[in-house]
Amino acid sequence: METKLLLAPMAGYSDVGFRVVCAQLGADLTFTEMLSAQAMKYDSEKTKALAFRDAREKAVVAQIFGKDVQAMAEAMQNPILQNFEGIDINMGCPAPKIVKNGEGSALLKNLSLASQIITECKKYAGQRSLSVKVRLGFSENNIVEIAKMCEESGADFITVHGRTAKQMYAGKADYEAIAAAKASVKIPVFGNGDIVDEQSYQNMLLCGVDGVMIGRGAVGSPWFFSELKREKLSMGKFEVIKTHVEVLRQFYPERFLILHLRKHFLAYAAKLHAPSSVKQKFALQTNIDESLNLFQSLVNHFENN
Ligand SMILES: Cc1cc2nc3c(=O)[nH]c(=O)nc-3n(C[C@H](O)[C@H](O)[C@H](O)COP(=O)(O)O)c2cc1C
Repeated sequence: METKLLLAPMAGYSDVGFRVVCAQLGADLTFTEMLSAQAMKYDSEKTKALAFRDAREKAVVAQIFGKDVQAMAEAMQNPILQNFEGIDINMGCPAPKIVKNGEGSALLKNLSLASQIITECKKYAGQRSLSVKVRLGFSENNIVEIAKMCEESGADFITVHGRTAKQMYAGKADYEAIAAAKASVKIPVFGNGDIVDEQSYQNMLLCGVDGVMIGRGAVGSPWFFSELKREKLSMGKFEVIKTHVEVLRQFYPERFLILHLRKHFLAYAAKLHAPSSVKQKFALQTNIDESLNLFQSLVNHFENN
């Protein structure tokens, strides 16, 4: 199987516009940010808005989170998730408010419940793939046990972020542990954590993984996927930013986007080596078109120097 490049689910970042540009620049599969199964029960408008899709997207996986078997099974049947190519179950989020609820990475402390959730969700997957995103364990590394549990419960593939939940984002992702996960199961295993350049990408490939998932390395630089594939960029960097904005404008009101785009703009500016005075302008932007003009000159400058 050819190595696949996946865009990670990232709350606040993996919006439909970002997914479109990542797909156009080489991501084979993109993920939505995590969607609450509980919120779907109550027909949450916010959750619906996180599940918008654009016709230009290729394959997209919607990620769901929850701890209640019934609510997760119902989420699988929710109309807003029917037109995705896959559904992923979040068993990796270490955020205290999620863990306190027994959701996300807390499920790694209760593998029999985790298994029940996967088995039940699989029943309603239909044509969609059913995958699980995990960490190495909750406090200790027991990834081999976790990977086998996912496989036995019916997961079509897993993604392993090479840290325990307790580590949050500290230290370095443990690629040897990812290699052990890959060696322990037959289903495809995707490696995730700290892929930020060619070297880290090659190191991850040495684990024998079927593909890699990239999060922070793509924020502000969705062209990272093309670079890793050694493909010429299919569009200029300014066009990337403009397309990201144009897609979002089809779905969301301007006042929401002014705030939402600040963090993406800051990330683009950082990757384009903007001076801090310019970054400050993006962080406080009040007008998206003015920011786009600023990007046009930034990209011109960046490309001519
Ligand atoms: C801002 C942010 C939001 C995230 N949100 C999610 C999420 O919704 N679901 C999930 O499974 N992981 C989430 N993650 C974890 C990433 O998917 C990924 O596992 C992690 O960042 C490590 O990969 P990286 O080093 O390539 O960024 C998030 C990470 C970041 C930085």
